[in-house]
Amino acid sequence: MRTGVVIAGTDTDVGKTVFAAALVAALDGQYWKPVQCGLADETDAEIVERLSGLPKDRILPEVYRLTTPASPHLAAERDGIEIEVDRLAAPAGERPLVVEAAGGLMVPLTRRFLQIDLIGRWKLPVVLCSATRLGTINHTLLSIEALQRRAIPLIGVAFIGEEQADTERTIAEMGNVRLLGRLPHIDPLTSATLRTAFDQHFDRADFAVDVSP
Ligand SMILES: Nc1ncnc2c1ncn2[C@@H]1O[C@H](COP(=O)(O)OP(=O)(O)OP(=O)(O)O)[C@@H](O)[C@H]1O
Ligand SMILES: [Mg+2]
Repeated sequence: MRTGVVIAGTDTDVGKTVFAAALVAALDGQYWKPVQCGLADETDAEIVERLSGLPKDRILPEVYRLTTPASPHLAAERDGIEIEVDRLAAPAGERPLVVEAAGGLMVPLTRRFLQIDLIGRWKLPVVLCSATRLGTINHTLLSIEALQRRAIPLIGVAFIGEEQADTERTIAEMGNVRLLGRLPHIDPLTSATLRTAFDQHFDRADFAVDVSP
C-alpha cells in the first residue's frame, strides 16, 4: 500500500490547505483533495500548487468539484448529484500521498456517510490540524476521541496560529497525543516563507510513515 497521510482538521478554515502545501513540498509528494466544495475562489488544489512550488503533475485532480461552498452532502445535492464513496479510494502511486479531508471529521459526504468513515477506509494515518484559537481544546479532544473510537491511527496534532502554550500542553496531556509542531501566522504567505516556517517548526521525518502491510 502507498505511503501517505490524511490532513484532517478540527473544523473548516483551520489551515489544512496551507499545512498540506508545506508538507507535500517537504515530502516531495503528491497532493489530493478528493472533494472540493466551492469553485468561485481559488480551489484548495490551486492553492497547494501555488504554495508548494511543486510541478502541476503532483497535484492530483479532484474526484468531485462541487459548486457550493457548503458541506459536501449539501453541495452535492445542490449540484443534483450524490457522492459515490466507492469512487473516493486513494489513488495508487510511488510518492507519498498527502490527502486533504473536507472540513472537520464529522462532515457528511452523503446523508449516510461521514468524512471520518472515508478516512477509516483509506487506511492512512491522520495529522490533525488545529487552530490555536479559543475553542480548540474542545474541538481537538473531541476529534481525537472520534478517531480513537474508530481505531484510526493519529500521527499527532499540528497547530496553526499564534502560540498558546497552555492550550498545546492541555491537548497533549488530556488527549494523550503527540504535538508535531506549530505553524505560526505567516505574512506574506508564499511558497518560500511557508517552506522556511515548516522547516523551522516541524520535522519531516515525523510524517514519513510507512503503512505497508
Ligand atoms: N500559517 C498561516 N499563515 C497565514 N495564513 C494562514 C496560515 N494558515 C492558514 N492561513 C489562512 O487561513 C485561511 C484558512 O486556511 P486554509 O484554507 O488552509 O484552511 P482549511 O482548513 O484548508 O479550510 P477548508 O476547510 O475550507 O479546506 C486561508 O485564508 C489561509 O491563507
Ligand atoms: Mg482546505
